[in-house]
Amino acid sequence: SAEPGYAAWLGRERLTDSARLALKATWGQALHVAEDDPHIETAAAELADGLTKLMGERPARIRASDGAPCIVLGTFGGSAKAAAAFHAAERAAVGDEGYRVRVREDGGRITIAGATGRGVLYGVFRLLRMIGTGAALAGADLCENPANELRMINQWDNADGSVERGYAGRSIFYRDGEIVRDLSRIRDYARLLASVGVNAIAINNVNVHRPETLFMTERCLPRIARIADVFGAYGIRLFLSVNYAAPIEIGGLSAADPLDPEVRAWWRAKTEEIYRSMPDFGGYLVKADSEFRPGPFTYGRDHADGANMLAEALQPFGGLVIWRCFVYNCKQDWRDRKTDRARAAFDHFTPLDGRFRDNVVLQVKNGPMDFQVREPVSPLFGAMAHTNLAIEFQATQEYTGQQRHLCYLVPQWKEALDFDTRARGAGSTVKRVVDRSLFGTRHGGFAAVSNIGDDANWTGHLLAQANLYGFGRLAWDPELSAEGIAEEWTRLTFGADDLVVRTVRAMLLDSWSIYESYTAPLGVGWMVKPNHHYGPDVDGYEYSMWGTYHFADRDGIGVDRTAATGTGYARQYREPNASQYESLERTPDELLLFFHHVPYTYRLKSGKTVIQHIYDSRFEGAERAEALLDSWTRLERRVDDGRYAQVKARLEEQAVHAKEWRDVLNAYFWRKSGIPDTRGRVIY
Ligand code: GCU
Repeated sequence: SAEPGYAAWLGRERLTDSARLALKATWGQALHVAEDDPHIETAAAELADGLTKLMGERPARIRASDGAPCIVLGTFGGSAKAAAAFHAAERAAVGDEGYRVRVREDGGRITIAGATGRGVLYGVFRLLRMIGTGAALAGADLCENPANELRMINQWDNADGSVERGYAGRSIFYRDGEIVRDLSRIRDYARLLASVGVNAIAINNVNVHRPETLFMTERCLPRIARIADVFGAYGIRLFLSVNYAAPIEIGGLSAADPLDPEVRAWWRAKTEEIYRSMPDFGGYLVKADSEFRPGPFTYGRDHADGANMLAEALQPFGGLVIWRCFVYNCKQDWRDRKTDRARAAFDHFTPLDGRFRDNVVLQVKNGPMDFQVREPVSPLFGAMAHTNLAIEFQATQEYTGQQRHLCYLVPQWKEALDFDTRARGAGSTVKRVVDRSLFGTRHGGFAAVSNIGDDANWTGHLLAQANLYGFGRLAWDPELSAEGIAEEWTRLTFGADDLVVRTVRAMLLDSWSIYESYTAPLGVGWMVKPNHHYGPDVDGYEYSMWGTYHFADRDGIGVDRTAATGTGYARQYREPNASQYESLERTPDELLLFFHHVPYTYRLKSGKTVIQHIYDSRFEGAERAEALLDSWTRLERRVDDGRYAQVKARLEEQAVHAKEWRDVLNAYFWRKSGIPDTRGRVIY
């Protein structure tokens, strides 16, 4: 499809004449491929297509070469030419999914090689990225392996075609209760994902209802297997979200007790059946005993019992159980001040550390609550030394503007990854927990809830593509900077125009701070309209059962989570983090109200009182949102009309809506506190 934005960062505009001549001298226009392997086939096709777009002519495929300039593609084991380009030690440095790209100084040969075809595919996308961002090729000599084993996307798509918390149209996987027949869009999605190194996908919502429970039946499996093939060609393993009560719902059993031999036998047989139709099946993603989903608690069993039963069934096939830790009491009485939802995952799971089987991975949301604009990092990451852990991010912008507001999330994710849990002394960062280097665990990695749908540009807000892109890049290499990723995405998406690159990069990098500054203040969270979560409603969740309160009264606001006088959540961290959060003075301003209840007159480290901070940042936030629109309008005619108009419309909505946030929050806190704005601005 040529619709504006559809090609995303794989658009690949024709290079300038001089760039094309230089490239042609380097590799002649020939691709040397000498082995038959499905991933090498994908890699060669991607390279040929990419180069055709960049160069304006199609390269020749050759199987043998006489030393004339060419690009060699191959695995060390399958291609003599690829192997010969590297010493044994150089080859040994390449892992299962890694690659080497070498460009001879004097031109004439580019070699892209790996231990597997998947590695070669990633190397191809790397070379295309280098060309697309204008990086120097001559003499380039790269060796890369992914930092993380699991680089996974979670679709929250339902069989009826809706997408839970989806803000970019309907599902590309399902329509009217059926799996789509035309898989071309799914294939294009696989290309986007593989180009940034994603290697796993769960294709249905973690809330598995009746129609998706049926995905595991004989009728549906052949169609699921077709989707698995599409992803498989791009090195992406397919997972299914499963219903814990499936043995009852489709197996005809009377219970789903994980210790019941009949239940265990059912899962073993079912799993075998799945692997018969999909030999590369990845495994199960499970949301159990969470938000009304069934789980082992019904039978008086714990989450280790529950996960291990599934793990046992998957183990003979090398499959994984990805078990989510989003478990809390969602029927809390708001009058109950003792229960703290933030504590729940830690309280449920740390007693089970060491009991999970080797092929179970616990998937933990980055924060203890639920993907708020600002949260501390989940203390679970520092507390499960004998358990495989993966971190879950939410690319779909449920609480961060729903792809109507701009919010580039990579800086937020980086903060979580760089958080030092102190589990093994200084330097025990979250990224080292999930990449397995800290605790030496068997499995781990990254997952993100996808932000795509069937909107022509995939993500609704075109600039939200940068979050999907950034997730993949960060999962591959968490050391990349948010700035670097923003610039790379911008260049690939919009080309080399310097003003465009500088402007879009700056917009992306400012956007999280802007969004934070007009929504819920100082880490307290929520304040959104119930259910759909779009727009301001300060008390929207204050008297509900979901455990998400701010406790604002006429004197102050915030949740006391200290051990001394509050819920004790702060104590779930290791030292010195625990003492820091316990201390009112030492808690960083941006998390103040997450950990402490303070009077509006409390003075922040910034020197402002809490109430004045609320007023000032709401006013500034609304102005900065408007400035985003001004920045973009300077790019008119430098960006093609279609994409220009799409982004402009979203930024216009954001500018208006930021004022709504500003006025609703300021009015609320002025009326509650009776403390006027020192600058006398209009508050309603
Ligand atoms: C959030 C979201 C739900 C989702 C849940 C989850 O609470 O609002 O729609 O199901 O997270 O992560 O399971």
